[in-house]
Amino acid sequence: MPTQTNRRWLIAKPLEGKLSQANFRWMESTVPSVADGQFLVHNRWLSVDPTQVLVFNSGDPPGSAVPIGEAPWSLAVSEVVESRHPAFSRGDIVHGQMAWEDYTLTDGTGFNPAFPVPAGIPLDWAAGALGLTGLVAYFGLHEVARPKPGETFVISGAAGGVGSIASQLAKIHGLRVIGIAGSPAKCDWLVREAGVDAAINYHQEDVGKRLTELCPQGIDIFFDTVGGPTLELALHRLRTRGRVVLCGITSQYLADPPAPGPANLVQLIMVNGRMEGFLGRDFIPRRSEAFDAMLPLLRSGRLKSKEDVLVGLREAPKALARLLSGENVGKQLVRMDEPPGS
Ligand SMILES: NC(=O)c1ccc[n+]([C@@H]2O[C@H](COP(=O)([O-])OP(=O)(O)OC[C@H]3O[C@@H](n4cnc5c(N)ncnc54)[C@H](OP(=O)(O)O)[C@@H]3O)[C@@H](O)[C@H]2O)c1
Repeated sequence: MPTQTNRRWLIAKPLEGKLSQANFRWMESTVPSVADGQFLVHNRWLSVDPTQVLVFNSGDPPGSAVPIGEAPWSLAVSEVVESRHPAFSRGDIVHGQMAWEDYTLTDGTGFNPAFPVPAGIPLDWAAGALGLTGLVAYFGLHEVARPKPGETFVISGAAGGVGSIASQLAKIHGLRVIGIAGSPAKCDWLVREAGVDAAINYHQEDVGKRLTELCPQGIDIFFDTVGGPTLELALHRLRTRGRVVLCGITSQYLADPPAPGPANLVQLIMVNGRMEGFLGRDFIPRRSEAFDAMLPLLRSGRLKSKEDVLVGLREAPKALARLLSGENVGKQLVRMDEPPGS
């Protein structure tokens, strides 16, 4: 049983349009005791994702909110330090939904159930490219979009955590890939490192005009991670039997008032199109399919795990804010530092 301090972030006050350090409060407490059916983990890496701002919501979607005075959560890669749970043993490395703290007591259930990380996988990959982020990219592409080689694939948030993996997987699958991202550095990375066919900087370019130029036959697949106006532009250019993969709506999580939905959904009727949302956590039971496909690609360097790493639990609020300001390039991670006295 660890006797160390448990450093924690708590929710201090509701969001008023913008996320800042003031929404969180730092505290130190003792490490909790483990009861039957529980295990205690030492959090090693936090995977930070824009959806986490929903912890401030008053219940939309249901179950997402965290009350003031309690710790927000992240997906994390953690080491089991004590267990009274039949499925998890001391020393196991797990991926699961953990609080922003050094040590989390859990029974492994919840919105994102905990699963063991296979031995030998670097922990940063386990938190990103082979964590829920990678599962979302892999299954969003292969199960929701169901691509055929040669098709034109457009993706928003292309240089982010999910986007950087999905863009590369689409390219590896033989698709023509157009990435939309928010800075010259991101577009440069997409073309030079990720190997996509073209990138559009939506802050500097007319996205509709560029999509028309780059996709003269239209778009077969639009993989959307940001929502908002880009979705409408892509729908307008969707080809017959085109697919829209609804992965995330980063541009809308803090939008007040919420933006109206796309005005041109009739396009789905006109092209016999399909628009489908999905939750990556529903693919957790099938994670070995994604691991088997992606691990060799990562090891060979054909698939690059682009990571943006801040070091130390203190940095967690800053890491979340970076996703909303677009500062992150690739998967935003926090590598945890050691608590005092460890
Ligand atoms: N369906 C699922 O199960 C599932 C699971 C995990 C994540 N997600 C969702 O997938 C999306 C991507 O997650 P991620 O962790 O990979 O995040 P991310 O893409 O690495 O980071 C968010 C990016 O969104 C862009 N962005 C921020 N504000 C924006 C705005 N107002 N308009 C347009 N773009 C904006 C920024 O990139 P630019 O600089 O390019 O604008 C920022 O870097 C999120 O919406 C997340 O909630 C869904």
